[in-house]
Parts: sequence; C-alpha cells; structure tokens
Amino acid sequence: MGVRKMNQTETVCVDVNGRQVVLPVLEGSEGELAIDIGALRSSSGVITLDNGFVNTGSCRSSITFLNGEKGILRYRGFPIEELAEEKTFIDVSYLLMEGELPDSNQREKFKNEIDRWPQLPSDIRKLMENLPKKMHPMGVISTILSALAGSHKESLNPEIPLVDAKKIGCQLMGYLPCIISDWYRINYCDGTYNSPLPDDDYAQKFLSMMFDDKNLRSEIRSSALDVLLTLHADHEQNCSTSAVRLVGSSKASIYSSIVGGINALWGPLHGGANQAVIEMLEMIQKHGGDSSKFLQKAKDKNDPFKLMGFGHRVYKNFDPRAKIIKAHCDRILSAVGHKDELLDIAKILESEALKDDYFVDRNLYPNVDFYSGIIYRALGIPSEFFTAMFALGRLPGWLSHWYELRQSEDFKIGRPRQIYVGATERKLSR
Ligand code: SDX
Repeated sequence: MGVRKMNQTETVCVDVNGRQVVLPVLEGSEGELAIDIGALRSSSGVITLDNGFVNTGSCRSSITFLNGEKGILRYRGFPIEELAEEKTFIDVSYLLMEGELPDSNQREKFKNEIDRWPQLPSDIRKLMENLPKKMHPMGVISTILSALAGSHKESLNPEIPLVDAKKIGCQLMGYLPCIISDWYRINYCDGTYNSPLPDDDYAQKFLSMMFDDKNLRSEIRSSALDVLLTLHADHEQNCSTSAVRLVGSSKASIYSSIVGGINALWGPLHGGANQAVIEMLEMIQKHGGDSSKFLQKAKDKNDPFKLMGFGHRVYKNFDPRAKIIKAHCDRILSAVGHKDELLDIAKILESEALKDDYFVDRNLYPNVDFYSGIIYRALGIPSEFFTAMFALGRLPGWLSHWYELRQSEDFKIGRPRQIYVGATERKLSR
C-alpha cells in the first residue's frame, strides 16, 4: 500500500511581494488541509519561516494518523487502544511496514527473518567490550549501529532495492535487542551473554537475554513489555522520525538513517524524557514527596526546569498512550509483587498539575514518557536504559518511514532554506 494521493480541493490566492500567487490546497484522507507551497518561491521570491515546524508538514504519509485535539492515535487506521490490547509488537511492526496486519504465514516469515540475527557478530561484540564502561546506552547503540553501517557493504548501495532494505530492517530488529542486552550484561552482570530461546516472542526474548533469573520468566512481564513496545512503535513526524527521513533523503544507508533517529531521540525533550521523569520523581521522593515545589519550578520562566513527561507538541488532550500505560502500571506492579512509591508520587503530581491553571491553560497533559519508566523499573531495567527501550519500540516506525520515503514518487533530498539575519557584505580591513 503506497502513499495515497491527496485530493486537491481548492486553491488559495496570496498577495506576496506585490504578486498574486495561487497555491493549491490539498486534503488528506482524514480531512486535514494543507497549502502546497511548492511553487511559492519560484512565483514570488518569498519563502515561509516556521520555528520548530509547528505549522509545517514535511511529507505525505499513510503510516500513522494522530489528532492531538481529540487524543486520537491510529497505526494504518487501527486505533492504538485496540492494537495494544489485541495484537503483538511483531504484528504491529509488520502492520506499520507493510500496511496490513500479517496472516499466520506472513507473521512466521517476518519473525523468522528477524530471528536470523539472534546475536551480534563477534567483532562487534569485541568492539562493545572495549567501549568505555558506563557509557550511556544510547551512545553505545549509536556507535554500534554506525559500526554496522560501515561494515554492512550491501546496505551502502544508494539504489538498494526495497526488498533488500527490508531484510536489513529485519536484521536491525534482530540486532537492537542484542546491543541493549549485551551492554546491560557487560555493565551489570559478569559480562556473560544469554541466548534467547528460539520459540520466545520478541519481548520475552529480550527479557531472557537481559536477565538470568528464570523465575522472572512470566507472561505478565513479557506482555507488559510487548504493550510498551507497541505503544512506542510510531508517532508520525516526531523529531527522531523526521531525523530518520532527513538523513534517508540523502540516500544514506538504512543503518545511518536509524543512527540519526537514535541521536535525536536521546534528547530530554524527546525520548530522553522517560529517564528524566524517573530522576524527577526520585528528586521529589528525596524531598519527602512534596511535588508542589517542583510544580512551582516548572511554572517559573526563569527556571529551566520542566515537568518531565508533561506536555506535547501535538496532543492538547491526554496522550492516549499515557492513559494505557497508567492503567497497566497498577496491574503489572501488583502482578509482579512490586510496590513503587514513585508511582504514587507520579499520580499525585499528575492530579496537582491537572488542577493548576498554568498546565490547564497550556493543555499540558501526561505524555507517553510520564508513566513508562514505572513499568521499565518493575521489569528490572535500569533508568539509563529507558530511552534505549523507547528506541527498541520505535524502530519499526523509523523503518516504515524510511521505506515509505524511499519508495515515494516525489522522493527529494531534504534541504530547508533560511532567512539570513547576519552581517551584510563588508570588506576585510587592510
Ligand atoms: C516525546 O513529537 C512526538 O510525537 C514525540 C513523542 C513520540 O512518540 O515520538 O510523543 C515522544 O518526545 C514526548 C515528549 C517528551 N518530552 C517531555 O516530556 C519533556 C517535557 N515537555 C516539554 O519540553 C514540551 O512539552 C515538549 C518539548 C514536549 C513540547 O514542546 P513545544 O511543543 O515546543 O511546546 P512549548 O515548549 O512551546 O510549550 C508551550 C508552553 C510554554 O509556555 P509559554 O511560553 O506559553 O508560557 O507550555 C510550556 C512552555 O514553557 N510547557 C511546559 C512544559 N511543556 C510545555 N512548562 C512546564 N513543563 C513542561 N513540561
């Protein structure tokens, strides 16, 4: 299923620079309207400027639809609530990449293609073992994927056929859990590696590679992780997906494009927020659980502190993923017999914020990162690995967008313009 053509509904006529410029208005399948400014500069010499791309669409896409005002999120038309409840992460990854849910044969074939890569090549493992200990996991992933990018010759083919690119995508889905679990084993265990059991599903495989304790093998834990991965799988043109698309638009390899996504996701305003939320909750815990001081800090314009896990560029209503994760927290904590005071602090913080005009007036609600760390903690995952877990979930989304970009009829290298505000011409003094 390719990108659906948008209908051109009407045109707008703008008076720019003393010229009348007629621009087409396009309508998406959910009724969203966009002014196509493709001819603006050539017709008027004028460009647009949009700080943070708040009003600017970068592409047409058929993968994910979200409506921030209504708190709607759908992958290929299916509501996230239904997918999280009824489908596995492997089903959802296939759906994002191929446009339809897999039948049993397609699922088997897809899973087998991923399972072809149960561990990293020995030279890559050696490279990991020689990295600075306690390196942040996101830096390790970025380094190792770059090493794989450089050594995976066929992936460097700028005209790589899509069928071959998808095989590399499956290799990436096989390798990423290995990079994360191997780095955990090097830093937190005796450096021995666990091999996954072939029949394990994706989430269980990862947990078995991470932890030795076979008593930890449970349906509740693996399904909790499976739901978290599904909820993180895609989110249309967020910062890291846009980075993957921009890097991919230069015909850089699939590995290099994903490295771009990894580094963009690492930032605390984006995927790094889940680690920052737990550190914020731990700070509040140290201050006797008094959240009011932190709410004041978050509202103080002179204080760089933000309420981590709150707010969103698109959602001006509840992030539907946050609602699902919050509901899972209680169920999982009681099922794994884990009490976490941070969850109580998070719930109090949420209720205080949602009664405060500052947050209400700005439509600041909990986002996907606010509660996810509570579940990762219950699974025994250290907080500096939380953003790596976000990346593990987001990988199929990044791959889907890379595939869609590379097969689009209007494929072009991304190269924004600017408005220059620096020094005008001047001569070197002799
Ligand atoms: C993710 O884009 C995606 O889809 C991302 C993501 C995905 O799945 O890929 O959903 C995942 O990245 C979720 C967001 C995780 N980040 C955080 O939780 C960090 C805390 N949140 C903020 O930094 C902020 O809300 C952003 C970055 C998420 C959104 O920033 P915007 O859209 O640029 O909004 P803004 O900074 O212009 O905020 C508008 C107002 C400002 O106040 P005023 O200037 O109007 O007075 O709201 C304030 C901001 O100061 N504000 C906050 C706040 N978030 C916004 N004030 C305090 N605490 C916050 N968290």
